[in-house]
Amino acid sequence: MKALAICSSPRENGNTEYFTKVVLSKLEKEGIETEFISLIDKKIDECSGCYHCVKNAECKIKDDFQEVFKKMLEADAILLASPVYHGSITSKLKALLDRAGFTGRWIANEMKAKSNSYDWKGSAFSRKLVAPITVARRTGQTFAFSQLMLWATVNDCIVVGSNYWNVGSAGTSGRRDAENDKEGIGIMEHLASNIAYLLNTIKYSEDRAEEVNKVELSNN
Ligand SMILES: Cc1cc2nc3c(=O)[nH]c(=O)nc-3n(C[C@H](O)[C@H](O)[C@H](O)COP(=O)(O)O)c2cc1C
Repeated sequence: MKALAICSSPRENGNTEYFTKVVLSKLEKEGIETEFISLIDKKIDECSGCYHCVKNAECKIKDDFQEVFKKMLEADAILLASPVYHGSITSKLKALLDRAGFTGRWIANEMKAKSNSYDWKGSAFSRKLVAPITVARRTGQTFAFSQLMLWATVNDCIVVGSNYWNVGSAGTSGRRDAENDKEGIGIMEHLASNIAYLLNTIKYSEDRAEEVNKVELSNN
């Protein structure tokens, strides 16, 4: 079971990175493998709306998207972390999610004639856990957080929350002072225990199903 964190702050050692790493370090203590990716050095262009992915199950634009997308496919839980910029997630994370959502959908499904709906065969993200994390100085959290929840819920994922929304607070003038937000740190730690609980429960039920399957095969 693996948790991947995608941090979209353009600032190294910023508050978003801090809160995200609180979650990862607690997950590691709970025995979950983790990986942190920053989008700082990634070139991810916006979706061009070419619909190439619908027929070809791949994104036509060749940049760092492919590397990040592959890691998303391999993860069982994905943390999507963003600072709040003008009440919204960052444009780079939005570009990644637009392309990942569409490509992930058309890997598994076939578009029928325009007048027909298609038979849902799942998406590349089906039943993955998604935990949104947003960080703001003052306001705009709920809109940015909702953007991430909306991405998760249209892509057949399971959203993981905490004892409050998974948000952290930052100081004025771009201060890197996340360690002062004790409540935010507690929210992130509790989020990590929820993710670990769900991953372990899923793993247990998958292992059980495999055992039952083996017994049934040997009995036949
Ligand atoms: C371009 C820009 C827009 C921002 N817009 C908001 C905002 O709408 N609401 C808010 O509370 N803080 C806003 N902030 C403050 C950041 O959310 C805050 O400083 C946060 O800690 C930045 O994350 P980082 O430390 O990971 O870089 C904005 C900052 C920048 C640079």
